[in-house]
Amino acid sequence: MIVPFSSSRAAPLLMFGAVACAQFNGIDIRDKIEEIEHLWVDNRGTNSDGFVGGVTPCANYIGFASNGRNRGEQTSAQWVRMVFHDSVTANLAAGTGGVDASIGFESNRAENSGLFINDTLQFMRPTVNAYLSMADNIALGLVVSLVTCGGANTGIPLRAGRIDAVEAGPAGVPEPTTDLATTLAQFAAAGFNQSETIALTACGHSLGRTHYSNFPDIISSLDGGVGFDSTPAAFDSSVVNEYLEGSGLLGGPLVTASNSSDQSDLRLYISDKNITMQALSTEAVFQTQCNSLFERMLNTVPSAVILSDPISPMTWKGVSIILDISSAGVVSVSGSIRNLYTTITRPATVPFTLTTSAGTSAILASTSAIGAGSGIFGSTIYWSFNSTTTSPGTTSVNFGDVVYPVNDQIFITPLQSINNRGAITVKAAVLTSLVGSSTMTAVLYVPGTQQGSLSPKITNTTIAMTSYGTVGLYTLFASGSTTVGGGGAPGGPGGGGGGGGTIVVKALLGDIASRTVKSTLFARA
Ligand code: HEM
Ligand SMILES: *[C@@H]1O[C@H](CO)[C@@H](O)[C@H](O)[C@H]1NC(C)=O
Ligand SMILES: *[C@@H]1O[C@H](CO)[C@@H](O)[C@H](O)[C@H]1NC(C)=O
Ligand SMILES: *[C@@H]1O[C@H](CO)[C@@H](O)[C@H](O)[C@H]1NC(C)=O
Ligand SMILES: *[C@@H]1O[C@H](CO)[C@@H](O)[C@H](O)[C@H]1NC(C)=O
Ligand SMILES: *[C@@H]1O[C@H](CO)[C@@H](O)[C@H](O)[C@H]1NC(C)=O
Ligand SMILES: *[C@@H]1O[C@H](CO)[C@@H](O)[C@H](O)[C@H]1NC(C)=O
Repeated sequence: MIVPFSSSRAAPLLMFGAVACAQFNGIDIRDKIEEIEHLWVDNRGTNSDGFVGGVTPCANYIGFASNGRNRGEQTSAQWVRMVFHDSVTANLAAGTGGVDASIGFESNRAENSGLFINDTLQFMRPTVNAYLSMADNIALGLVVSLVTCGGANTGIPLRAGRIDAVEAGPAGVPEPTTDLATTLAQFAAAGFNQSETIALTACGHSLGRTHYSNFPDIISSLDGGVGFDSTPAAFDSSVVNEYLEGSGLLGGPLVTASNSSDQSDLRLYISDKNITMQALSTEAVFQTQCNSLFERMLNTVPSAVILSDPISPMTWKGVSIILDISSAGVVSVSGSIRNLYTTITRPATVPFTLTTSAGTSAILASTSAIGAGSGIFGSTIYWSFNSTTTSPGTTSVNFGDVVYPVNDQIFITPLQSINNRGAITVKAAVLTSLVGSSTMTAVLYVPGTQQGSLSPKITNTTIAMTSYGTVGLYTLFASGSTTVGGGGAPGGPGGGGGGGGTIVVKALLGDIASRTVKSTLFARA
């Protein structure tokens, strides 16, 4: 019997129905959802990319400036400010701008002064791939920053599907010296009215500092920065209450600046006679209002972008599911099964089944736990599985409450593909009855460097494949050897020799597409 495991905190089911077919550039929205879910849930241990570690604890600085900590840098504050500066230049009426990583091309503008843009992009580059844009990385960055800084754990619904811009957007981020009318007009164009602008600014200025290195006219200390409140590493209403009560840091440097031209926060806060600030002074109201405004900011995207439904951490999940074919023509499906659990004892074995055209297979079971991890939503345990299939005709692998589609008519065989220090030969298998006269190609989605931004750009490269034999009912194909990546953007852990993270691959026979595969077997040298 399959007894589905459930836990109280991790919502059990992802609803794919309405969005299962949504694609952008040949990538399934489901793959995007599962990729961002992975960074959100797999914080430590097996299968972790360390994304949340960048803002753990909240006061952490993971950027690349050698003297960053002395300069008062804090990664969580950088990540929150990043979303604001990327999105506030949106024009809702025109359907342009929003969270689209265009900020990467804008780091040298005076309105974007500071280390935050390149620090953030350099940290997030390794987790950009065809499944996860930089813009989605940036959105996740805000959500997890608030969690590690003490905000409500599940406060902001997270969606996937943002698309990266390939050039700079318009300028217009308000500065300390910007007058009130101009500031309100800029926020209004991005969809925020006066009281929302006041609230959003107070929400953002709950974290981080004004830095001497960026605003020497405002901050007099020769090093470091001055917080907007006494708790710059706690996402809380202190900034509001210290302002209203005249305690602590009085609302921070943009309230108290010696030159009144620089008092942009004060101009905003008193523009409605402190009514919005007073309404925000209760902690619970502050959290609710801020979450709601941050959510709207995260979901401000160019009109062509279709975001996914809100994502829930998955109790059961498949990781790196791939197919292979033996020299006898027997197809196998393998991968890992992840279970996310909190208080309930983790299961000892994982039953799974395969669905074929003839029905559901007998129950198979994986008994080999291969790793464990932990994170915001609980603990994880991983099992490996590998089963031969009845092929052709196997359509899914099923466990817990999830169903993973399998396409055994045409599939990449990562285990047989060759990666000789970045020179990649892609191999695939196709049902011989389908081959006909169509052309067989492999498409590689490669994160590479681009001019003017540290954010990687995904380029898809199509390469020809030729058949090199048959096994059973299948014809085997191989591409020529192709060298991808290189480019070598400066410094930074994980930056490596290319622009970003892992390569995603699929095979095409005319119009018939395999599922895409993201495998470290295709990583660059
Ligand atoms: C009129 C509106 C705003 C102005 C003029 C403004 C201006 C500034 C300035 C001058 C700094 C200091 C930056 C540095 O020295 O590194 C700052 C920091 C910050 N701002 Fe704003 N801001 C505004 C609204 C917002 C909003 C709406 C958010 C987020 C929703 C936000 C989030 C932040 C954060 C998190 C920091 C701290 C950054 C760090 O410590 O690295 N700001 N802001
Ligand atoms: C490759 O990228 C181009 C845009 O540069 C897009 O039009 C095309 O559909 C992509 N091809 C595949 C196979 O995804
Ligand atoms: C701004 O929008 C909020 C809803 O978020 C509304 O309650 C408020 O009345 C609006 N304020 C102004 C000044 O239009
Ligand atoms: C708003 O609050 C600030 C800080 O407490 C105070 O200095 C100011 O006089 C108040 N302004 C109005 C119009 O209430
Ligand atoms: C205050 O700032 C404004 C705008 O930057 C500048 O024009 C003015 O000279 C400054 N005043 C003083 C006393 O520094
Ligand atoms: C799974 O087993 C089959 C043989 O049944 C083998 O061809 C395939 O390479 C194995 N997959 C993995 C990931 O080891
Ligand atoms: C950030 O990196 C980009 C790309 O390397 C570079 O052009 C830009 O000057 C850098 N910005 C800052 C402020 O260092």
